Amino acid sequence: MLSFRFSSLLLLLWFQSLVAVGATSVGDSGCGLFFCLNVTVTDDIMTYQITPIFEPFGWVGLGFGRQMKDTHMVVVWEKEEDRSPVLSHRYGHGHVEPEVDEHPPRVASIVPASVTINPSIAHTHSNYSTIAFQIPLNRTNPKPGQVIWAYSLRQPGPYPSAELLQHYAAGTIDMPLNKVVADLPGTIENALDNPLPRYQKLIWHGILLSIGFLVLLPMGSLIARWGRTLTPRWFKAHRFLNLGLALPAICGGFILGPLAVLDREARHFADVHQICGLLLVALYGAQLLLGRYIHSRRDVVGRPPHPPSNMLHALLGIFIITGAFLQVRSGFEEWSMSTQQPAISHWCHDALTAWSVILPLLYFGGLVLLKRQLAQEKNGQECDDSPERKNYIALHPATAIFAGHEQEMEFEVAAYSEFDNAPLLSRA
Ligand code: HEM
Ligand SMILES: *[C@@H]1O[C@H](CO)[C@@H](O)[C@H](O)[C@H]1NC(C)=O
Ligand SMILES: *[C@@H]1O[C@H](CO)[C@@H](O)[C@H](O)[C@H]1NC(C)=O
Ligand SMILES: *[C@@H]1O[C@H](CO)[C@@H](O)[C@H](O)[C@H]1NC(C)=O
Repeated sequence: MLSFRFSSLLLLLWFQSLVAVGATSVGDSGCGLFFCLNVTVTDDIMTYQITPIFEPFGWVGLGFGRQMKDTHMVVVWEKEEDRSPVLSHRYGHGHVEPEVDEHPPRVASIVPASVTINPSIAHTHSNYSTIAFQIPLNRTNPKPGQVIWAYSLRQPGPYPSAELLQHYAAGTIDMPLNKVVADLPGTIENALDNPLPRYQKLIWHGILLSIGFLVLLPMGSLIARWGRTLTPRWFKAHRFLNLGLALPAICGGFILGPLAVLDREARHFADVHQICGLLLVALYGAQLLLGRYIHSRRDVVGRPPHPPSNMLHALLGIFIITGAFLQVRSGFEEWSMSTQQPAISHWCHDALTAWSVILPLLYFGGLVLLKRQLAQEKNGQECDDSPERKNYIALHPATAIFAGHEQEMEFEVAAYSEFDNAPLLSRA
């Protein structure tokens, strides 16, 4: 930290000494996939020369900050009629169209371009002319070579306050601005160099988490609900779905959320969707631990057969899945808000609504098996013919494993015992 500050200070002093000397120009230049940029600093003036190389060229913006929010920007494009350059001062409020900046702290103006880009740097020839503007150097900025950029394929109208349609690509540029001689390429980082292209992370974030929370976990719960009186293998299926499949899906999907936010250098866990998402995943983790705990417990004579932990497992399961429906819905809105892409297709909303009706019907419909389950428990009947004779419905005390694993049941059975006072497990 200290050394960082110190080196910034040195750089600043160095800059000022250069400026004091007066005649010297420093600068940098480089090309990315979308445009070439040549920056020179002479006295107190910075000259930016931008040559678009990606077709079609709409507008290109440079922002004097690290993210869109709270950043002054200069956006340039060509008029359609005569291809003369237009310059617009903008101010970013977040990931929406930056507003026209009526009183920019540093005023930029178009100047004639003097650069011809070196085709060996650009790896291409450009059909567009270079647009150059000058802006006073910000002497208090220790890194004047750091800007954000954005490139759009759609040309705005011929006046500075014209609407800007969203950029096609954006990223950061970090130029040391220390070249006294020309022709040393700087670095233009490319947002499209990400392993997953833009929005791809968010798309997989949505898909994996929807599958994890709204397909796998409900399946696991339904299998428990319906399967436990029918086959002793229900527990394996339940664990496989809720742990084996859902855990990777949920962890993978979850981590992509913060990664997408990181890509755009925004603040993490900044809104309701992001905070509730974190909470929901934490609850899922707790539910896994609780399930393990219940499964590891053995029956001990005198311990109540359906302890609070088992009921909690049931309630928490229902709570998590209900929360997941709300979370997926808020994710649909988050998508339109943070990507400015077209809203999520209608069928996704319809499917979500339909599932939110069907799933409770399927689940609570499973209560018809409750009678059967209670009878089995009362008889101490076993469904398991494995050597361990594990049985999650009713355990014969001789087998001494009270695993009474599953969620819903413990809850309902406990309610039953209150009414009836019937022994739920037959004990020796
Ligand atoms: C039409 C106006 C604009 C809209 C609607 C818009 C929208 C967005 C959105 C939705 C994101 C987030 C993408 C994501 O979540 O992954 C974003 C990121 C970004 N925008 Fe803009 N933007 C606009 C103009 C600009 C301008 C003029 C600049 C810079 C001069 C700029 C620079 C950036 C940067 C640097 C990022 C982060 C890039 C990254 O994630 O790698 N934007 N923008
Ligand atoms: C420039 O324009 C010509 C004709 O419109 C086109 O054939 C060519 O591909 C363009 N150059 C680049 C670099 O795209
Ligand atoms: C100059 O840079 C500093 C530090 O980045 C910033 O706080 C300040 O607002 C900038 N001033 C102008 C006029 O751009
Ligand atoms: C930028 O362009 C100018 C010509 O306007 C040239 O003299 C200078 O060397 C270029 N800077 C770099 C770093 O290439």
